[in-house]
Amino acid sequence: MYQRFLQELSQHQLHQIHKILFHLDKNEVKKVLIRPILLKDIPMWQIETTRAEKVYHQNIAHVELVSYLYQCMQEYICKQITMTTASQIYHYRLTKKGKILHYAETNQQQKAPEMEHNRTKSYLLEEGMPIHALVDLGIFDGNFRIKASAKKKFRQINHFLSLIVESIETDQQEALTIIDFGCGKSYLSFLVYYYFVFIKEIELTMIGYDLKADVVEQCNLTAKKYDYQNLHFIHGDIAKASHDHGKVDAMITLHACNVATDYALHYAITHQITHIFSVPCCQHEIAQQIAPPASWSFLFQHGLHKERLSALFTDAIRCEILRTMGYQVDVIEFVEIENTPKNALIRAKLTHPTHHFTPTPALQTFLKEFHLKPTLVRLLTE
Ligand SMILES: C[S@@+](CC[C@H](N)C(=O)[O-])C[C@H]1O[C@@H](n2cnc3c(N)ncnc32)[C@H](O)[C@@H]1O
Repeated sequence: MYQRFLQELSQHQLHQIHKILFHLDKNEVKKVLIRPILLKDIPMWQIETTRAEKVYHQNIAHVELVSYLYQCMQEYICKQITMTTASQIYHYRLTKKGKILHYAETNQQQKAPEMEHNRTKSYLLEEGMPIHALVDLGIFDGNFRIKASAKKKFRQINHFLSLIVESIETDQQEALTIIDFGCGKSYLSFLVYYYFVFIKEIELTMIGYDLKADVVEQCNLTAKKYDYQNLHFIHGDIAKASHDHGKVDAMITLHACNVATDYALHYAITHQITHIFSVPCCQHEIAQQIAPPASWSFLFQHGLHKERLSALFTDAIRCEILRTMGYQVDVIEFVEIENTPKNALIRAKLTHPTHHFTPTPALQTFLKEFHLKPTLVRLLTE
């Protein structure tokens, strides 16, 4: 049937083929996309099959391509085939009368496909998954491919998601409530929701808080559009968060600015939230307060050192407070520093809940000697 396609395919060396796309008719499978990839430096073909809105991947050896194509054409009714090579794009279309129409055009782009192996492989969520909300949020394009401008963000939130999953899944709960403070455009909230609800099939209630009314409204519209029934966004200041969300299992902050992180940590501590995942940023408060003892003043001679040391002190103090309040604390680089320099995640799990904050002697001495009164300490002692 598609003799001409197979003939033209055979005239090319396999490395010249950039992609082959089958549009299928009257089949459960709607689309098959075949692209070259490198798997541990071995050239292979990735077969992406779209079946009932879901996308599946499989890889086959280079030499298996032609037999796979035969099998595909025997199994399915192909409405259209497009083959893109380094120089041409070939189109073949089956008419209603059963004839094959074909034509070729010059490949203007002549862009070689990215042979870098699909690094998203290790991610929990991958491009190609039909996460429609991510198209609306500008992370995916209409074909569920990551937009070039969103690659870093996608990587960040995927890493973040895997760390959340690693901690929470050990609890083996069937229902979860998670709060994302300072959610902004809420890429992370949408991914977390999608993963737990549609992949793990766990009942998840997810709440995002942000100061920006327009962003919150947009996120609520997107959640409604895709019928994400238990994903809600609240316009409000974390410092005044007072809604009753029942038992909350996890609190997230990703780059909540300056003391917004302290208000979020305070909320988590006082509501005895089991899991905390917090990536602080813009830790300016301590840099403005710090007055070190004379013997340490050389460390703060330069603005850059003062700023960086203050940021480290801020987070080290937060961790010490969390430990004091019964949390087991980890500090991890959640993504490579080239992706974002603000990459230190404070991950904490409540193991010995306590209601009273009593700073450790070491923390008390440090705060006194450096003349510090960080927001989190103030909130817990007020
Ligand atoms: C740098 S953005 C990060 C957004 C999102 N978490 C992300 O990583 O893509 C910080 C967000 O925190 C919000 N924010 C800062 N202070 C806040 C506060 N006190 N209450 C609620 N939201 C706050 C800002 O409006 C902003 O959207």
